[in-house]
Amino acid sequence: MKKSKTHPRKPRNWKRPIGWRRPKIFKKPQEEKKPQKAQAPAPAVVAKSVPAPKPRRQILFCPGPVNTTLQVKAALAGPDLCHREPEFSELLQTIRAKLVHALGLDGRYSAVILNGSGTAALESAVLAGLEPGRKLLVINNGVYGSRIAQLARLRQMPLVEIRSPLTERPDLNRISAALKRDSHIGTVAMVHHETSTGMLNPVEEVGALTRKYRRKFLVDGISSLGAHPLDLAKQNIGLCVGSSGKCLHSVPGLSFVLVAQEEIARILKLKPSSLYLDLGLHFKTQEAGDPPFTPAVPLFLAFQTALDELNKEGLRMRVARYRQRAVLLRTSFKKLGLKFLLDERFLSNALTSLWVPKGLTYPQLHDRLKKAGYIIYAGQSELKGKIFRVAHMGQLFQGDLQGFIKDLKGILEAAQPPSSS
Ligand SMILES: Cc1ncc(COP(=O)(O)O)c(C=O)c1O
Repeated sequence: MKKSKTHPRKPRNWKRPIGWRRPKIFKKPQEEKKPQKAQAPAPAVVAKSVPAPKPRRQILFCPGPVNTTLQVKAALAGPDLCHREPEFSELLQTIRAKLVHALGLDGRYSAVILNGSGTAALESAVLAGLEPGRKLLVINNGVYGSRIAQLARLRQMPLVEIRSPLTERPDLNRISAALKRDSHIGTVAMVHHETSTGMLNPVEEVGALTRKYRRKFLVDGISSLGAHPLDLAKQNIGLCVGSSGKCLHSVPGLSFVLVAQEEIARILKLKPSSLYLDLGLHFKTQEAGDPPFTPAVPLFLAFQTALDELNKEGLRMRVARYRQRAVLLRTSFKKLGLKFLLDERFLSNALTSLWVPKGLTYPQLHDRLKKAGYIIYAGQSELKGKIFRVAHMGQLFQGDLQGFIKDLKGILEAAQPPSSS
């Protein structure tokens, strides 16, 4: 018989001590004891579970959430980590560095990552972006420009709004005149890609004005980062907001603020007006590798994988890929006789807004496309029911775009009234 190393033979005169038990080499982990009393049955609504999505891949043409790669999905099922352990600190620092690198930035910017969708980081940036006693100038030509103004109003921040129609680019002369006239304006805020219409706003020109008039500049890059290059330092941007989903191809749920180094000392001195969204607190604690609140750990793992994918592809290639998709889709839309909401030159690389064609309502178009496996997006506010939006963010294959156009063509043809001849 083979001698066991862990359990040597007992001596001949060995007596079993009181309470002795034969050691178990492989002890099965004990399950937690079940509660003695049976629990009351859950009410029907609690007992019901939302069915898992059908295995068929739904192709998302909405501007987030987006289709993700298998690697990003697999990362979500990564190890359970405690955020107070060095493994998470290392993950956090790595993601911050990878993000700055992926977006083509250098040591002049630091990334602060927040739990929450884009609006969380946007609110945090707006709160940190204005010096006490100064006014915020918001450039507003859509739903997300309005959102910045709404955030400022809710916090009773002194606000100046320059609005322009949804289909027009902001008027640079009005912005310049306002900055010249009103020395109390401390910060200018605008959306880079106004996702409600697909408008790519003139960040470069406004950045030049903020430099000329020595004002701070805050940019919502939530739906443009990844699809458009943005040289933050050149455009005088002190704070730029982004999110993990959309054109950075991770799942939604994390957002971030890219902060210029020269802004950090000022932000750290601010009296916070929010606990959870205090950008200074997040910066300080993330630098120390010790986040103040419980982070959504799996989302960090997925975001890291998506950033690895972007770093591997390179920002230039990612932007070129988006441009290519835009050209393919827009050429096809024109062939199908669809009409753009905006002058095509104003459209971003990531989304096309189109008038709902005659013979169909938006819900009909949406539902028929959904049946075929594609999710499009509705118009918002005054454009609700009038337009539909087709974003092309995330992991999409050439075949997805071609299949979409083919099915869209079929739906449009079926909706045409029969010709009278
Ligand atoms: C430009 C822009 N800003 C802000 C938001 C709000 O982001 P979230 O819905 O992730 O909070 C969005 C969402 O689509 C957006 O496109």
